[in-house]
Amino acid sequence: MTEMPDPDVAVIVVAAGSGTRLGAAEPKAFALLSGRPLLYHALRGVFGMREAAQVVVVAPTDWMEAAGAIGAEVAGAASAHLEVVAGGDTRQDSVMHGLAVLRPSVRTVLVHDAARALTPASLFDLVVDGVVATGHGIIPGLAVVDTIKRVETDGTILGTVDRSELSAVQTPQGFPRDILDAATIAATDEVTDDAATVAAAGHVVSVVAGDPLAFKITTPWDLNRAELLLAGERVDVLADTLAVASAPRVGTGIDVHAFDDESPLWLAGLHWPGERGLSGHSDGDAASHAICDALLAAAGLGDIGGIFGTADARFSGAHGDVFLTETLRLIQDAGFLVGNVSVQIIGNRPKLAPRRREAEELLSGILSAPVSVSATTTDALGFTGRGEGIAAIATAVLLPVSTAGAHLNWRA
Ligand code: CTP
Ligand code: MG
Repeated sequence: MTEMPDPDVAVIVVAAGSGTRLGAAEPKAFALLSGRPLLYHALRGVFGMREAAQVVVVAPTDWMEAAGAIGAEVAGAASAHLEVVAGGDTRQDSVMHGLAVLRPSVRTVLVHDAARALTPASLFDLVVDGVVATGHGIIPGLAVVDTIKRVETDGTILGTVDRSELSAVQTPQGFPRDILDAATIAATDEVTDDAATVAAAGHVVSVVAGDPLAFKITTPWDLNRAELLLAGERVDVLADTLAVASAPRVGTGIDVHAFDDESPLWLAGLHWPGERGLSGHSDGDAASHAICDALLAAAGLGDIGGIFGTADARFSGAHGDVFLTETLRLIQDAGFLVGNVSVQIIGNRPKLAPRRREAEELLSGILSAPVSVSATTTDALGFTGRGEGIAAIATAVLLPVSTAGAHLNWRA
């Protein structure tokens, strides 16, 4: 196993509670949300942090092995960053057990409830940044939107609390390590968060904007709400994936062939009597070959050299239509249709203009899609300018035949 480099940041994930209010068969952090333990979801946020951190999971004594397995699954290659320790009777005790195993290099400590299973990684990063920038405690909180009353136990209203002063605070809560260490040791009162411990020791703690997804799963209602939110996210992710899969795909291809006085000229699928031919294993039709490369590239199928090997006798002397037809079959098999193709021939001869339409009709017919053909000289520069050969450059746009089909083929 690789060693963890000396981390500046540690995250203590407290997961040792029993979850009385949730009432699941297992401790709350091990209750299933969308088929995975809450702890698994919580650790996804932690391991999604920008900066590599030491991650300490505090688990019920009988569940340490399970916690280790869940952690290893999320941590993957970063498993060296993870350790599991036994929890205590109270949340504060559990935090103490986590603090006891921090690496000497750790300067900033975040404490996080496994019960806030959907907390995004960005909130961890925000809290770390806040602690580093200010040198004091930073906790996330959300403005209270309800009107809050102080009431007697019998329901009698005593007054309205000024809600502009209130914040519903969440975790992860971040602190300079030395401050949290000292405050935790000095703590006497039972409190429900670490900010209270640190504030009781006389230190500043400020609130930064929290995240609604960092809500705590306490009751079966909360668990179901998390389940629904995750289901919604799956739909979003699926929609994104499908949108990507259904987006047009573009490809580029270039081909060059040298003139060869012994051969007839075949270019853009046409025979050009009286023009100097092009050399090549096939007929040297640079325009058709560039189109094949553009189509294959757009489909992610490689290039013409990799598919039509020069050792393959079927393609010896073959004309452009043979390559184009086979390429079309391959991209259709991969779930695509041709949107359109544009090819430009670069060379002094032949003069394309008189036969441009003919070439376009032929190529469009083969590919069942619009193919435009254009030509240019290079102002007497380079090998095309010196009349040594012809180059062609093509661009192809492919469209997925059906979203699902293209998606499956593309991933395969
Ligand atoms: N926690 C802990 N050790 C304890 C008590 C609580 O690590 N002795 C953790 C819980 O696992 C949870 C977080 O502290 O991630 C917040 O506590 P809470 O939501 O109250 O969880 P539980 O105490 O498990 O739930 P309940 O109060 O309903 O029994
Ligand atoms: Mg509790």
